[in-house]
Amino acid sequence: MHIVHVTAEMAPLAKVGGLGDVVTGLARACLTRGHKVDVFLPFYECINKLHIKELALTSTYNSYYDGSWIPTNVHRGVVLGIPVIFIEPSNHFFKGQSVYGGAYNELEAYLFFSRACLEWLQVSATQPDIIHVHEWQTGGLPLLYWDMYHYLSLKKPRIVLTIHNMEHYGECRAEQLSKCGLDGSIYATEEKAVDERTIGHNPERLSLLKGGIVYSNAVVTVSPTYLKETLCSGWLAGTLIRHRDKYFGILNGIDTAIWNPATDAFLPAKFDANNVEGKKICKLFVQRGLGLAPEGLPGDPDKVPLVVCITRLVAQKGLHLITNAIRYVEALGGQMVILGTAPDARVGREFEDLAQLHNRGSSIRILLTYSEELSHMLYAAADIVLVPSIYEPCGLAQMIGMRYGAVPVVRKTGGLADTVFDMDDKSQPEMANGFVFEGIDEGSLNRALDRAFSYYREKPNEWKGIVKKVMQMDNSWNNTARKYIYIYSSGKLGKSSIEY
Ligand code: ADP
Ligand code: GLC
Repeated sequence: MHIVHVTAEMAPLAKVGGLGDVVTGLARACLTRGHKVDVFLPFYECINKLHIKELALTSTYNSYYDGSWIPTNVHRGVVLGIPVIFIEPSNHFFKGQSVYGGAYNELEAYLFFSRACLEWLQVSATQPDIIHVHEWQTGGLPLLYWDMYHYLSLKKPRIVLTIHNMEHYGECRAEQLSKCGLDGSIYATEEKAVDERTIGHNPERLSLLKGGIVYSNAVVTVSPTYLKETLCSGWLAGTLIRHRDKYFGILNGIDTAIWNPATDAFLPAKFDANNVEGKKICKLFVQRGLGLAPEGLPGDPDKVPLVVCITRLVAQKGLHLITNAIRYVEALGGQMVILGTAPDARVGREFEDLAQLHNRGSSIRILLTYSEELSHMLYAAADIVLVPSIYEPCGLAQMIGMRYGAVPVVRKTGGLADTVFDMDDKSQPEMANGFVFEGIDEGSLNRALDRAFSYYREKPNEWKGIVKKVMQMDNSWNNTARKYIYIYSSGKLGKSSIEY
């Protein structure tokens, strides 16, 4: 099969969160299973080109936007073995110091990108079997395809949409669709607003994600529990229920070659499930490097668990629980490191104030930066990985943490509920691998931390057993890729539930 991903993120060169990891992991998993894979990515100005091998400008073509044809460069390169096609328009789109938040209209830029990718497939006479789009950013592609391009190609690709997070649904107005050459007005009339073909309920509020759900052949979200949650509540629940027959929940994997403590080049010492001596060296290295008291409690280093939380600092991640954990871990005599970035300036200031307050001491470090290298070291150093999300479609941090021998403390939601099972839940002891809480109040989190700390301090042999168990869990792409390939290959080609 020839699979083409059209995406706004790809690890490690344009990664903001798990979307980037998943595109790279799934693409590599399909390549190793003998499929042909290409990834289309905007040629962001901020991309670190050192990650790209064999980068070359291969063509220039014109792509439509707002009444003009924009000269657009196509670069090709290879990232971690994956062929990547970079789309670089000559206008201001995708310029800036970060993947998101540049001085351009993101919605129009990604609609342009989606159309430009389809145009390039036409120009280069490439006829993939699958076009796999992700999130709202490329959720407009299925709509563009069925309205503008489907009659041009002989071999109809199946279009698969993965929803990584329902929070952003790509709200847009009819005139923005029109700028990409679609007749936006047909999606925005009162009459059409009740029709399945419209991409919004309110004609003023169209949604690229809803368009993607309606116009794709298959829709996937990133865990079975999140699938259930999205069918029960939220603005798009009705749409998803109507399309239930083509909607699947597939738990993400992690790339176990990239996330491997036995070979990880970022670590000062390597380790695996059978020999975790190297993990102690990593913990000491991080404690020394960050100025945390390496000796822990005098004479008893094993009584000082190190908790890490590596995350985007956004409401979804349970900000009040993260700030509460800082105080509570300190009160319990543990250590904590937060590595995160806050897209919202107010949240950023709040965490800067906390950093000012706590970073002078010897038990808490709040690092407000993005660093892939540091994230590897912190997962390796951690005794506990904390993921207290209010909602979490899948969550990779807990899976990566486990691979590096960090025991998860998580809130029971979405993919966290599918990957972490409580040590004290006697109904399924064979699954137990961490500490789970349900409430969104601080007390619920504190009780989970209490339990984790008491296992760590009072039951060292059981703790060693959990560490070994989490490191041996299989959260690789094996199962995930098999399920995606099944979806790629099942059903008839072309329109499935889309008949109009
Ligand atoms: P989300 O996609 O919602 O951000 P996930 O848990 O699925 O959450 O994925 C987050 C990914 O981003 C993980 O690979 C995590 O290690 C990484 N990450 C988050 N914040 C940072 C940071 N500040 N520096 C380095 N990596 C980070
Ligand atoms: C999103 C979700 C996260 C998921 C990731 C990859 O960013 O917030 O839970 O793991 O996408 O699918």
